[in-house]
Amino acid sequence: MSSKPIGIFDSGVGGLSIWSEIHQLLPMESTIYLSDSKHAPYGPKGKETIINLSVKNTEWLINQGCKLIVVACNTATTNAIETLRKNYPIPFIGIEPAIKPAALQSKSKAIGILATKGTLSSQLFHKTSQLYSSDLLVIEQVGDGIVELIENGALYSDEMKHLLHNYLQPMLDAKIDCLVLGCTHYHFLTPILKQLLPNHVKIIDSGKAVARQTKAVLEKTKLLSAEIPEKMNRFYTNGEEKVIASLLKTEIAGITKLEF
Ligand code: DGL
Repeated sequence: MSSKPIGIFDSGVGGLSIWSEIHQLLPMESTIYLSDSKHAPYGPKGKETIINLSVKNTEWLINQGCKLIVVACNTATTNAIETLRKNYPIPFIGIEPAIKPAALQSKSKAIGILATKGTLSSQLFHKTSQLYSSDLLVIEQVGDGIVELIENGALYSDEMKHLLHNYLQPMLDAKIDCLVLGCTHYHFLTPILKQLLPNHVKIIDSGKAVARQTKAVLEKTKLLSAEIPEKMNRFYTNGEEKVIASLLKTEIAGITKLEF
């Protein structure tokens, strides 16, 4: 048993969608969320830079005493989790685009994947994609500009709608019936996507699966928390505090600004 916190990091506010799922499934756990908004977006950056940023975030969370780290970013997971697992002696949970569930559910045998350039060009993504997509048409789309708009508090802007309309059209032309959200920021697009997509297109993201996996690993490693700790959920950002507050449905005590 361990009452130490779970560390969660993302290139910005996207991983808050994962934090919410973890908090819901594991209410006894205390958490530390690190939003590296100053360096967002990670998506267009090269592998080496993404690894260096992920190492920096990991070391900061380890210094805060975290017992396990959730890499709540598809781009950081697909490019850096191997390095993190090799170099640090604590468990890491990652997130990858949910191609498998989409492949299993698709009846039209055409699915869309919206993700960052860093994720779609990674070896890990290619490996998973090849495993599940042999009898499937997969329309990949880089979501250029989406992360920046969310980080700037412009989630519900006309510009966002315009971008999404353009990104979805080739998928709709190809008759997709599943859309995989391959970036944790994109979870927050769900209400807009529901307006833009026909009803039969399922929106698939991996947040719940990541929370379940976090619980399973904590159980297996005997690191679950037995009591509700005092300082439950702490949020840190090197960007704008107000964007974090606007995306969380749960009341939180406060957000700490970091120079980092
Ligand atoms: N939330 C990150 C992901 O899941 C966003 C990537 C970015 O910063 O470009 O990939």
